[in-house]
Parts: sequence; C-alpha cells; structure tokens
Amino acid sequence: MSLHTRTKRLTVPQLVAMKGQQKIVSLTAYTSWMARLMDPVVDFILVGDSTNMVGLGRSSTLDMSLEETIVFTRAVVSSTQLACVIADMPFGSYQESPQQAYRNCAQVMARTGCDAVKLEGGAVFAETVEFLVKRGIPVMAHVGLMPQYVNTMGGFKAQGMNEAGAMNLEADARAHIEAGAFSLLLEGVAEGVARRISDFSPVPTIGIGASPACDGQVLVTEDMLGLGGDHVPRFVKQYTDVGAQIREACEAFADEVRAGTFPELRHCYGIN
Ligand code: KIV
Repeated sequence: MSLHTRTKRLTVPQLVAMKGQQKIVSLTAYTSWMARLMDPVVDFILVGDSTNMVGLGRSSTLDMSLEETIVFTRAVVSSTQLACVIADMPFGSYQESPQQAYRNCAQVMARTGCDAVKLEGGAVFAETVEFLVKRGIPVMAHVGLMPQYVNTMGGFKAQGMNEAGAMNLEADARAHIEAGAFSLLLEGVAEGVARRISDFSPVPTIGIGASPACDGQVLVTEDMLGLGGDHVPRFVKQYTDVGAQIREACEAFADEVRAGTFPELRHCYGIN
C-alpha cells in the first residue's frame, strides 16, 4: 500500500519542496476514472500528449490539438482532489513566441483549473519559460528525448550518451532553472547526466527512462498496465496486464450473448 496522507491538492511550491525529502511519484491520465484511481497514490498527474498515441490511436504526438488538451485536462482536474495536475502543452501551441505560449498556456490554465504546464524544448525555450513564469504560469521544462521534436532529432533516441550531448543537456537544464522552471522532466537521459543535473538542480528532476538518479519518476500509465500496444519503451516495467483482463472479459460476455444466456436476470433481481 502506498497511499499518501494529504487532504488537499498538492501545490506547485509543495511539489518543489519535496526535493531531497521524498521521491516524487507521477503517472499520466486523461480520463476521469483513471485519474480518480491514481489520485490518492501519486503526487502529480501529467495530462501528457502521449494521450494522442495511447488514447486517440494516432501515430505521434504532433497532431494533438489545444482543444483536446483542454478537454482531457478538465476531465482530470474535475475528477481529482489531491494530486497536482500538469497539462502538457501540445506541439505548435507555444513554439512560435513567448506571447503565443502565454496566450495558450493561460487559456489551458483558466479553462481547466490545472496547476501548471509542461513544455518540451531545450535552452532556446528558456526565454519563453521566463516570460510565462513571470506572468503567473508555473512551467515544468521537458528536456532530453523530446517526442515533439522527433523529426529534427531523427527518431526517439536516448540523449546525453556522449560528452557533447551531456554538455548540451546540462546547458538546457541550467537555462531552464535560471528561467524559473519549477521542475525539469528528463526523458531518455543517460544515468550519469541525469545524476549530475539532479545534483546541481535546486528544483526536482522527474525521470522517464532517465534512471533512479532523478528526484521522481513518471510513466505513461497505459504502458505499465499492459495497454501500451506495440511501442512500449524498453525501460518501462509492466506491473499488470489489464489488456489481457479486458480481452478476457470481452470474450466472456461474447460467449454468453452468443450462447443466449445473457442477460442472466436471476442475479440482478435476487431470484434463486
Ligand atoms: O506526454 C507524456 O506522457 C510525456 C511523458 C512521456 C513524460 O511527456
């Protein structure tokens, strides 16, 4: 059993204060029931744009719309009371300019009630992060493997694997810290770099495929439940196989319908 004891929603400053005190736990969600089930367990819920692939069946995260982000984030916020909720800003909604980023992030925060946003991008986005933070929008900066830049990165490749890559990543992290990001999400990052960044960063690092050196961990929920399909990353641990259970239940129902034995009314009306 690993339930937390809080009675109110975790705030961004409280999340930051967890660094060095306790490991931070996060999962993704975009539907009401998934969010409710994890609310008493996790510290923050990420309404990730991975939803575009695991939830909407699209082939990348690139064609998720701002409106979809708002719909899913509202569902998660209104179904939870304890976890901090962070909305992942979709591709094209913040890259153009700090002003565009502010307009869209403010809209997401105002229309969903979420606590913060996450943006993918290296040091070049530090200016945008600073612009947002100074105007009241808490930002988690996502560096390392950034799925929104799959076309410029040439695929989903782990980052920081050589000295030059490691130095670039550290520079990205430092730029975002200086800009005021409240947390760094490190995806697909070599352990040595993740450890160095976590050591110098005053704000929590959250890893996904970035080793236990990070201050916390996030997973795409579908991946760890056996609902991730064919493209589950190698670092994911599958804790259960809900996919197999759903298939079994579907088959049991189909068998009963085809045999003419469903509905079996004795159970619901209490007749023996
Ligand atoms: O969209 C997402 O779920 C994410 C995680 C991979 C961290 O950004």
